[in-house]
Amino acid sequence: MQKIRAAITAVGGYVPEYILNNAELETMMDTTDEWIQTRTGIRERRILKGEGKGSSDMAVAAVNVLLAKKGLDPKDIEMVICATTTPDMQFPATANVICDKTGMTNAWGYDVNAACSGFIFALTIGAQFIETGRHKRVIVVGVDKMSSIMNYEDRKTSIIFGDGGGAVLLEPSEDGDGIIDSVLRTDGSGRVHLHQKAGGSVKPASIETVMNKEHYVYQEGQAVFKFAVKNMADVAAEIMERNNLTADDVHWLVPHQANKRIITATAERMKLPAEKVMMNIEKFGNTTNGTLPLCLWEWEDKLRKGDNIILAAFGGGFTWGSTYIRWAYDGSKA
Ligand code: UT7
Repeated sequence: MQKIRAAITAVGGYVPEYILNNAELETMMDTTDEWIQTRTGIRERRILKGEGKGSSDMAVAAVNVLLAKKGLDPKDIEMVICATTTPDMQFPATANVICDKTGMTNAWGYDVNAACSGFIFALTIGAQFIETGRHKRVIVVGVDKMSSIMNYEDRKTSIIFGDGGGAVLLEPSEDGDGIIDSVLRTDGSGRVHLHQKAGGSVKPASIETVMNKEHYVYQEGQAVFKFAVKNMADVAAEIMERNNLTADDVHWLVPHQANKRIITATAERMKLPAEKVMMNIEKFGNTTNGTLPLCLWEWEDKLRKGDNIILAAFGGGFTWGSTYIRWAYDGSKA
């Protein structure tokens, strides 16, 4: 019997309207547009404003784009996996909230927390449910409201992050195109360099943790940078090698958007020219779980059936990974 393969058959995305540009950051902290652009490649990022708005609201907008594009009834969806580091609340899972807000009442689901690699991890998990024949329509979301855990007094960290997210629909492939392979890695010893100090079971929220600003992202930028440059490039090269892909065979690299210099180093390692690299970091910054689906959403109309696409990410944990996809349809923005 031929193996069932999972294919992405539609993409939706959403970024909030509010633009936080480098000039505004200059009024908030001791930084300059020149420093931020040179060190990161970021000009501006989006921020979700409005009381009571969370990651689920951006995910709902992205999912609705996708459902409308495919003309699907929300009740047709069987499963939703949401990759996020900024869930609406500790529990229940944001996936549940998304299902409720969109009317996907026949779906079950849960959240995946793998920081910036979450979308790749969730995509791999979702694909398994299609490959085993268990489900026919699975939605994988990658979304984050990073502004909710950002200390805008910390100029080394806050300048790279933004809000946004996207969603993809997975269905059984008709002809073998789809998600071909994944390499996924974790190294928990890396947690010291990038984490949130309080709010979990080790250090529950208290007046003290709030006063000490321990609910924000703590990042040792240089240490993370070194691991990210090496591991993201290694894993992308590894997936090319084990699938016998040369640089000429690869149509697109979809890299996590944390820092332009990390993206460039990965592309150089893969020997890919800049025009094959999806990059929107200059306008969205690092949306954590949102970066990869947002790239796919923006580039969807340029993607052609049969294109070889490599996804690569690195994030807190540490977590990192790469996925090889043979794209299953001619893209359109409609
Ligand atoms: O998303 C997944 C995980 N995250 C990442 O992959 C992020 C990886 N790390 C990075 O992208 C970079 O480390 C950052 C962009 C976060 C920081 O850039 P950096 O080149 O590593 O800067 P640094 O922290 O080493 O700081 C260099 C200098 C320092 O000054 P001194 O000590 O050399 O005098 C900082 O105080 O730049 C200073 N600096 C700034 N100056 C102006 C740090 N942040 C700023 C700033 N504006 N925003």
